[in-house]
Amino acid sequence: MKILITGGAGFVGARLARTLLAGGTLAGRRIERLVLADLAAPPPDLHDDARVAARVEPLAATCEALRGEPFDGVFHLASAVSGECEADFDLGLRSNLDGTRALLDALRHRVQQGAAPARLVFSSSIAVFGPDPALPLPEVVGDDTIPAPQTSYGTQKLVCEHLVADYTRKGYVDGRAARLMTVTVRPGRPNGAASSFFSGMIREPLAGEEAVCPVSPDVRHPVSSPQRTVEGLIAVYEASREAFVGRSALNLPALNVSVQQMLDALEAVAGPRVRARVRFERDERIAGIVANWPRAASARRAAGLGLQPEARFEDIIRQYIADHAGTPALKGLEA
Ligand SMILES: NC(=O)c1ccc[n+]([C@@H]2O[C@H](COP(=O)([O-])OP(=O)(O)OC[C@H]3O[C@@H](n4cnc5c(N)ncnc54)[C@H](O)[C@@H]3O)[C@@H](O)[C@H]2O)c1
Repeated sequence: MKILITGGAGFVGARLARTLLAGGTLAGRRIERLVLADLAAPPPDLHDDARVAARVEPLAATCEALRGEPFDGVFHLASAVSGECEADFDLGLRSNLDGTRALLDALRHRVQQGAAPARLVFSSSIAVFGPDPALPLPEVVGDDTIPAPQTSYGTQKLVCEHLVADYTRKGYVDGRAARLMTVTVRPGRPNGAASSFFSGMIREPLAGEEAVCPVSPDVRHPVSSPQRTVEGLIAVYEASREAFVGRSALNLPALNVSVQQMLDALEAVAGPRVRARVRFERDERIAGIVANWPRAASARRAAGLGLQPEARFEDIIRQYIADHAGTPALKGLEA
């Protein structure tokens, strides 16, 4: 079968690609071709796999090509991140809303030419939830909580959830939207996401660098590891329509943790000297954004697909350490 991952050179997309290639099959069928479409080139290990083809271009160009090219399935992950969308309103609309609509229309076009609807998994976000004076945020957001996004990014994700559901209702795609929790520990450098510090306060100390936590230790947030997130996307793809239940988006599993618990876990796994590299320095802008985020999430429908969160944040840190064994990302561990 032939699969497309938009955003396939990104953090989650590249990991999803590696996991699919290692398994070799999806929904019981052999993966013959995996197309990674992204503004950036895929990492070398993916590029070198004979089953991988890279399309390094804006999503709009990929969508044009899609009209003539059949795919069995699509993971739609390409997206501008939350901070970028707040800073550049047009960028968010173009990348996240117009891009998704163009993708859905390219897939619809093929169905109208007589092809079977492609299966599509859309990566939505916990950012669809937020407090509205008329809709106070519950302590735990569930699949059935009414979303009230408080950012442009969250709004674009919510609109796209509904578009995916409607194109599915019309039979143009077999679409499923899954809301990702904050995926941590993200490797590399800080990105434009306001949630970037949730990874930085673990990643930087492990690399021997100082890290600043811009919010107070009692801030709570739902997170997930990269691997559980990828497993969730694959399970959502593989689910029958009946097992997915309906067309509305579902939450992927969350480990609900406080900043204090994350730091305690860092100390338990890496020792007090690593933990001591994190200091608190309040950033009113980030603290204000975070105050509008869910403090915890549940995922009843995902549990019905057999998906569970990690039991402990320590396990998430250990996953990061195992992924980066022998690299400079862990040089702070030896110090
Ligand atoms: N990482 C998280 O914590 C998190 C949480 C909730 C939702 N999500 C969603 O999951 C998906 C993957 O997240 P990620 O962390 O891997 O993000 P990422 O930024 O690492 O990857 C996204 C990729 O999309 C590409 N992209 C952006 N605009 C594009 C365009 N117009 N055309 C082609 N490619 C484009 C970027 O180059 C990037 O490589 C995104 O849709 C994101 O919104 C992520």
